[in-house]
Amino acid sequence: MWVIGSYHNIFRVGRIMMDLGYWVLNDVVWHKTNPMPNFRGTRFQNATETMIWAKKSSDQKKYTFNYQAMKNFNDEKQMQNVWHIPLCTGSERIKINGKKAHSTQKPEALLYRVILSSSNVGDRILDPFFGSGTTGAVAKKLQRHYIGIELSPEYIEIAQERIAAIPQVLCNAAALVTKSKRDAPRISFGQLIESAYMMIGQQVFSKDRTIIATIKADSQLMWQDQSGSIHKIAALIQNRPMFNGWEYWYCEDSHGNLVSIDDLRARYRRENTME
Ligand SMILES: C[S@@+](CC[C@H](N)C(=O)[O-])C[C@H]1O[C@@H](n2cnc3c(N)ncnc32)[C@H](O)[C@@H]1O
Repeated sequence: MWVIGSYHNIFRVGRIMMDLGYWVLNDVVWHKTNPMPNFRGTRFQNATETMIWAKKSSDQKKYTFNYQAMKNFNDEKQMQNVWHIPLCTGSERIKINGKKAHSTQKPEALLYRVILSSSNVGDRILDPFFGSGTTGAVAKKLQRHYIGIELSPEYIEIAQERIAAIPQVLCNAAALVTKSKRDAPRISFGQLIESAYMMIGQQVFSKDRTIIATIKADSQLMWQDQSGSIHKIAALIQNRPMFNGWEYWYCEDSHGNLVSIDDLRARYRRENTME
């Protein structure tokens, strides 16, 4: 569940949600890149709204989070909880006789990120404060179903017209789905060794080459007087309880350039599995 609001009410809503047993996964700050000025100059310019993303309870094990899609959206870096998105302006802003049709029409970019991150194609999304129908418009573009509830008959008409004007997306279903790395076939470090993508005795490096370890036949690494998995040794070096070794280690290609073992694993997947 997502809720959005300004500072006037969002903290109160968050408190009520927690009292009702919801479990907050994130608060996400929408940073408006083109905020309305505070004309009187009596306080700071308000440039944010806060959204709360929650699951039904702390016990709820499964919920949708399209981590990889968000990472792809953010130039391969993990998406943070601050989103820099402009207010709804220009041709996207619905106007009637030159006047804004809805005073708080949300930008589609904001709903795009909400819907893409936390639902899948074919899911049903409920927006009980539908307004001009931004949720429905984006849901249609991303091939989700939606239910909108709105008090004002005028806004209902605006939303219906708006959504009807959006053409059905005609594309291969795969174009709407991001495969999660978690869904990819599991490949062990040992598989890279037994298939000669890496060699026994080969050296692996930290990104800055200050750490060097050696690959053993049993797929463990030797570093100083320690032996362990790629994860264990990476964690040990960084004095952490756990670390994903796929993101730590690099090997040299034939030109002496460093290549991440995670990229090597991706190559193995491409060449050896039916993804
Ligand atoms: C912040 S606006 C939603 C704007 C919408 N996200 C958009 O992009 O156009 C909230 C909407 O909720 C509607 N509303 C307020 N109270 C309501 C209620 N009790 N039931 C249904 N709709 C309600 C208002 O008429 C208003 O259009």
